[in-house]
Amino acid sequence: MMKVDVVIDPHKEIGVIRPELHGHFLEHLGSAVYDGVWVGPESPVPNARGVRTLAIEYLRRLGIPVLRWPGGCFADTYHWRDGIGLPANRPRRMNLWWGSSVETNAFGTHEFIEFCRLIGAEPYLAANIGSGTPEEIRDWLEYCNYPGGTSLSAERVENGSPDPFRVRFWGIGNESWGCGGHMTPEEYCSAYVRAATYLTPLGGTIPYLIAVGPESNDIEWSRRFFEAYWNARKYRPPLHGFAMHFYSWGKSTPTAYTNETLREQLNHFTALERAIIDQRTLIDSFPVHPQGGRVGLIVDEWGTWDLSDKEVEKQRGLFWQQNTIRDAIAAGLVLNIFHRQADKLIMCNLAQLANVLQALLLTSGTSCIRTPTYYAFLLAREHRGGRSLSVEQNFNQSGSPSVSASETTGSITITLVNPDPSLPHEVRCTVKGVDTRHLDATILHHDDMNACNTIEHPDTIIPIPWTAETEKEALTIHLPPLSIARCTLTL
Ligand code: AHR
Repeated sequence: MMKVDVVIDPHKEIGVIRPELHGHFLEHLGSAVYDGVWVGPESPVPNARGVRTLAIEYLRRLGIPVLRWPGGCFADTYHWRDGIGLPANRPRRMNLWWGSSVETNAFGTHEFIEFCRLIGAEPYLAANIGSGTPEEIRDWLEYCNYPGGTSLSAERVENGSPDPFRVRFWGIGNESWGCGGHMTPEEYCSAYVRAATYLTPLGGTIPYLIAVGPESNDIEWSRRFFEAYWNARKYRPPLHGFAMHFYSWGKSTPTAYTNETLREQLNHFTALERAIIDQRTLIDSFPVHPQGGRVGLIVDEWGTWDLSDKEVEKQRGLFWQQNTIRDAIAAGLVLNIFHRQADKLIMCNLAQLANVLQALLLTSGTSCIRTPTYYAFLLAREHRGGRSLSVEQNFNQSGSPSVSASETTGSITITLVNPDPSLPHEVRCTVKGVDTRHLDATILHHDDMNACNTIEHPDTIIPIPWTAETEKEALTIHLPPLSIARCTLTL
């Protein structure tokens, strides 16, 4: 048993936890879109305008603040015109990065926007700067956001959407140091600047322009990009966001983890907290943008990336990954990092929404289930929009509990994660000046690190009520190995 003391101070605020820190990502990869969230209007699978009804229901219940699409590496091969107009007339293309599969373009811009509206998510478009042109991105912006009266906006109206889409978030490329064109930071900066020059406010929507950031904590990429942007130019277009990617690769297939491979994968997420601090410090060492203020740091893609099981992939699609209690713990750890670093971040997106990598939903035929990761997000939901509070603990090393806390009107939410596969924790939390008696606790836990929800047993891992002892301004909670607990204190 590990005993840990934690002190939460409601008078020490870190920053506001923007809802977008709980964002998501959907790519044309494996079965994320087709047979995942999108089944098409003619499908026997119950759907609303082609979107799987159960996916809508589950995602609405969770709340998806923002959704990034269409990639990923796919974004830099995607030509948006392929995905508009009558579906029967849309070209069939090869999906270059992801298995050379056939992309029917049945799910295009209108379908994506409709999907976002159905689940209440704000759309985020990742535009093609790798194999595309600044003109193509500019036209997409006009097609989406110009109210009417130009040929492009008239085409949108003809295609069934009289109201502009008012898309705010625009990514210029994806991983331009890799699949997005193998550019140097200086080459990418030039590509960014050229494209961003033409992405102006339209119809009252000011585009929030996002540049490609580093893989993990690659400071060299970021430093050279910002030097090229700030030092080598007299005039520059706006730059609002800078997006890094962070994956924790595992050395086991999803349901064959051992204590050792699990610890290694979960420990790697401490490097994410370091990366956020380092990247923020680097960005802040450059001037504040006169048009856009402080450049926002984004974790555009994050999650677990396990060894793939080739046989499973053949049946269920590329990067199909079963999701276990370990993934929920990973999500709990990472969301706690985002809450604790809320003053440094403006958006973070899990990879990916359905069936691919660390998914929220898994689908098969007519079935759709919620993964343990889904429930980890559900437990964290109350933090959205809250004031992140200072958390100090007397013991902080690999395997020790991870804690975040926030205050919204009338309540304080505390999330505690025990990432250790064998050691229970007892955490005594002092919440300065707060009477802890009005407490509601919930836990997500399983004794078997490889346990998961399946189509046959979809509720193996779900949140259940839990208890904690309270005394004046303290609460003491028992956390079994591999568990996430949420405590809500009513003030
Ligand atoms: O999420 C899968 C892939 O991982 C994305 O397409 C790419 O951006 C990253 O390398």
